[in-house]
Amino acid sequence: MVEGQRPEGGITRRKFTFGIMIASMLGAAASFLSLLKVVTPAKKGAGYVSTIKPGDQLVLAKGANAGAPVKPSSMKVGDAVLVYPAGKTSNPANIVQLIKLDQSAFKPPTRMELVDQGFVAYSAICTHLGCTVSWVKNPADPDESFTECFCHNSMFSPVQGAKVIGGPAPIPIAQIGVKVQGDSLVFTSGFTGPIGPQV
Ligand code: FES
Repeated sequence: MVEGQRPEGGITRRKFTFGIMIASMLGAAASFLSLLKVVTPAKKGAGYVSTIKPGDQLVLAKGANAGAPVKPSSMKVGDAVLVYPAGKTSNPANIVQLIKLDQSAFKPPTRMELVDQGFVAYSAICTHLGCTVSWVKNPADPDESFTECFCHNSMFSPVQGAKVIGGPAPIPIAQIGVKVQGDSLVFTSGFTGPIGPQV
C-alpha cells in the first residue's frame, strides 16, 4: 500500500481525528447540561399536586387499620392521625394530618370555617424540604400540643393556622377543610396555600 493512500474499507487518519473531536464535544455538552440540572433549583412544591376534592372521606393512612374511615368518636382532644382521602392513597401529595383540639382553642390565622367540632387538618408535608410531619402531644395541656418535622426540627402551631414556631420551615403548612358527617369525616375544601417544600 502506498503511504497516505486510504486502505480499502478503512478510514483516513483525518476522518478518525475529526470523529474523536465531535465525540469529545458531545461529551462536554452532556456534562454541561447535567451540571446545569444540579445547580438549577427545583421549582417550589414541584411534583406536589393534591387531588383531594370536597366530599372525599378521610381514611387512616397508617397502622393496622390503614384505609379504614376515621371515626370522629375515636379521637380525643390532643390526638392527631395521618389520613388520606379515600381511594386516593397512592398520591403522596394527598397526605394530611388530622388533629382534634378544643374548638375554643383556635386563634387567627386559623381558618375557622374549615374547622368542625375541634377537628382541624393541615397538609402533612413539611414546607422545608418535604418530610412527613409528626405530632408532639402534650398530655398535661393537649391544646399546647404541636406539629413537628423531625428532619430538621421545624415546629408548627396547630391552633394558629400551623404557623411556624421554630426551625427552618419558611411558611406555614396549608390548612384544608374538614367536617364531621355521621360517624366519619369528609374534606370540605382544597388546601389554603401551597404544599410541599417551599425553599
Ligand atoms: S424537611 Fe421538615 S424541617 Fe426540614
